[in-house]
Amino acid sequence: VGVLAAAVGGGFAWLWTGADVDTVGKEPFENRLAIPPLAKSRVEADGTRVFDLRMQAGEKEFKSGQRTRTWGFNGDYLGPTLRAGRGEKVKVRISNGLDEASTVHWHGMHLPARMDGGPHQMVEPGGTWSPRWTVDQPAATLWYHPHPHGATEKHVQRGLAGMFLLDDDKARKLPLPDDYGVDDLPVIVQDVRFDGAQFDHGHQLMRNTGFLGDRTMVNGTLNPYREVGDELVRLRLLNASTARVYDFGFSDDRRFSLIGTDGGLLAQPAAMDRVQLSPGERAEIVVRMKAGERTVLRSFPQDNYGDAWQTRFSGGDDSFDVLELRAKASLRPSPALPGHLAEPEVPDGTDSARSRFFGLRMSGINGRPMDMARIDEVVTRGTAETWTVRNEDGMPHNFHVHDVQFRVLEVNGERPPPELRGAKDTVFVPGGTTVKLAMRFEGPADPDTPYMYHCHLLYHEDGGMMGQFVVVEKGQRAGKPAAHAGGH
Ligand code: C2O
Ligand code: CU
Ligand code: CU
Repeated sequence: VGVLAAAVGGGFAWLWTGADVDTVGKEPFENRLAIPPLAKSRVEADGTRVFDLRMQAGEKEFKSGQRTRTWGFNGDYLGPTLRAGRGEKVKVRISNGLDEASTVHWHGMHLPARMDGGPHQMVEPGGTWSPRWTVDQPAATLWYHPHPHGATEKHVQRGLAGMFLLDDDKARKLPLPDDYGVDDLPVIVQDVRFDGAQFDHGHQLMRNTGFLGDRTMVNGTLNPYREVGDELVRLRLLNASTARVYDFGFSDDRRFSLIGTDGGLLAQPAAMDRVQLSPGERAEIVVRMKAGERTVLRSFPQDNYGDAWQTRFSGGDDSFDVLELRAKASLRPSPALPGHLAEPEVPDGTDSARSRFFGLRMSGINGRPMDMARIDEVVTRGTAETWTVRNEDGMPHNFHVHDVQFRVLEVNGERPPPELRGAKDTVFVPGGTTVKLAMRFEGPADPDTPYMYHCHLLYHEDGGMMGQFVVVEKGQRAGKPAAHAGGH
């Protein structure tokens, strides 16, 4: 350790002595929170709603007077919010204006494997790809981001990410805050580090999670505040960071109501004072404001993070001021939250046709690093399964499954906490943790095109913590995935 310390000097000292990042109270909230625009769309004769997304390089002034090189969808950084309703046919015309190939994946969406935007649907520079599907799942806060095998961390960090909101008729009738950008705010949280005017995406020594930034931004805004004019404000929290886990709460420890998780609304609101989100996870919370007051959405040091060593070296002890909410001098009254929200449409594990086991290690899942040409799991369309996922190396990992939403049946043999009781597509699996998940595969069957399951700490995913499954008809065999089957 001494030799290492001497060799790397200040970097090591920083890690060892002043290890924790703490931005609480350090800088004023001086920038008004940007709200990603709602994406324009048009409806074709057959009722298909069509969106256009272009991946492009740009520059953005995060700090005044400094131009940072970025990537974005239809703009310099991040992308517009797509929005569609259950039952709607959607098509997204994607064009790649970058000088490298990428993909666009619909995280949380149930859709045919060929439309999923995983690493098999590469879009070459100058190329286009137009996936289409019918939305067939409940109202939820989903998101989209690139998924090129081996380069996802880099592509997301440069700024390629956006929200995809789904609505349904039952949710529309609930008296929830739902005025986008007014009392219903997208909150896309990323951690960043700057080296002068440019992003510094370097991995620090001994940080086994990949990149960890020293400050956060929301919707691409540093030190953000937002005025609110309603008593109840809904925040759609998305952890769009590449590796960092947050434990969100408010500076005054006020309680809030958790109303939704990855796949949609909970059965009923849950009163909480913290909600932990690992990369890729979402939570919808509703917070009550009093006229004229301010409160800060913060991320706190975490106790559910595996052992103390991993907590320290992967940022679990860090604290961030994330977003200040400023209530106007007089607020519009909001109706009380309904006692019942929705029936989460996820199986309860009683009708599982089979069980599978996934052991998570940084070196691969079930001992195998990702191979684009290998199908790891074959599931039968129309069946439910129980997947047991165990952290086997003690490092922070999570587990994301494409195409489905699952129910967390157990965490270390116990009933899960409220934030894991709704529909989920990503779950934190810290050291010492085993989770049991139930999900149903509705298809359509496509033996040749795999979906992914992986750790959503993107450095781990890029490094091989990913596997592939196909959905087949009963008795059908898996085909052979083409390494690159992208559109042009
Ligand atoms: Cu958010 Cu496989 O991805
Ligand atoms: Cu996904
Ligand atoms: Cu991992």
